[in-house]
Amino acid sequence: MDSGQSASFQLLLVDDETDFRSTLTKRLSRRGINAHQAESGETAIDFLVTHPMDVVVLDVKMPGMDGMETLRHIKQRYPQTEVILLTGHTATRDGIEGIKAGAFDYLSKPVEFEHLLEKIKQAFEKKQRTEERRLEAEYKAHIEQQMIATERLAALGTLAAGVAHEINNPLAIINEASGYLSSLLEKPELADIPRKEQMGRAVEKIQKGVKRARAITHQLLGSVRKPEPVLVHMHPNDLVDESIQLVSKEAKDKEISITRESAKDVRAVWINANQIRQILINLIANAIHATAPNGQITISIKKREPNGITLVVQDTGKGIPKENLDKIFEPFFSDKPPGQGTGLGLFVTKEIVDKLDGSIKVDSRVGEGTTMTVHIPIQHLESQRQRGDDVGHQ
Ligand SMILES: Nc1ncnc2c1ncn2[C@@H]1O[C@H](COP(=O)(O)OP(=O)(O)OP(=O)(O)O)[C@@H](O)[C@H]1O
Ligand SMILES: [Mg+2]
Repeated sequence: MDSGQSASFQLLLVDDETDFRSTLTKRLSRRGINAHQAESGETAIDFLVTHPMDVVVLDVKMPGMDGMETLRHIKQRYPQTEVILLTGHTATRDGIEGIKAGAFDYLSKPVEFEHLLEKIKQAFEKKQRTEERRLEAEYKAHIEQQMIATERLAALGTLAAGVAHEINNPLAIINEASGYLSSLLEKPELADIPRKEQMGRAVEKIQKGVKRARAITHQLLGSVRKPEPVLVHMHPNDLVDESIQLVSKEAKDKEISITRESAKDVRAVWINANQIRQILINLIANAIHATAPNGQITISIKKREPNGITLVVQDTGKGIPKENLDKIFEPFFSDKPPGQGTGLGLFVTKEIVDKLDGSIKVDSRVGEGTTMTVHIPIQHLESQRQRGDDVGHQ
């Protein structure tokens, strides 16, 4: 066995003969293997509770709990530990019985040292192979799970966007018709119709429902209010300021201060303003919702080498419990009261970030706050493309 293996290699020697144990331990140590010792089956069982072993070399003939019983205990509680039995020189039956009970192999006493060393090495290698196979199977299962989840989410995203698009038209019709109804109810000739008030309330309910449904379809479709060219030349600071402005009312009401910090070397870039704006609005809105009155939100902009920018939205809010960290990017996950959050903000944000080949990372501590870090690669356009070329330049 080489020393690299023996560094993390755990071996226990169980034998009631003190001399045999210490001689063997010394010889093993000269070969770079540090063996632990136990003088009885009972001591070995106790020792294993706190010290998991790779290999146990176990004498069969011991007073008290004998080797066979000890072996059964070990294999029952620690099936991954390999056991080599040392039997009396005529006790082949013990050896065979031992193998049936799960022993790796048996050697008859007196043992030939090199032979034992070879067996220990084989037992350790078997243990390692089993462990590797277990880890591999675990990893494979994990990756498969992840792939299923990712595919399901991607399919769901496409489907959701399609549904949102289809729903927008009937939604517009309902909106218009309910608007028409409410304007009719204002007309003097309908001033005295029966149940006018109830009708008014019903129309109001319809309009509220439409508003909520629209919030969902807008999130899913990327809420493009005015058509803009795909890329505009813009300083990220301006984009951040604009996004802060769009969600500032709620922050003002809660007296939350929003600060923008920008590294000096951040320059104007060609950027998809619509998409980045939607990312920022979703993140800042979440930060505002999570932060108590008088809290603080900081948005930092940094350059990211070799070509990109980093946007960090940091709040002093309630934080996200560990068990929710995996869920917050799932569609419709929300801790807001029914009717208040769509649970689509981060799902859509992640979709956009993925589309831009960027990344999003969340760091959060319950009771302290949350930091969302978004990296976005910036495309380099050919040099002849001047700022003024683009109609969307602002
Ligand atoms: N900065 C944050 N601090 C604490 N929790 C957050 C933060 N950002 C997101 N979350 C948690 O993640 C959940 C999902 O966020 P997401 O933006 O997807 O939906 P939402 O905010 O609930 O709904 P909507 O975006 O429509 O208002 C939130 O309900 C909240 O529990
Ligand atoms: Mg949100």
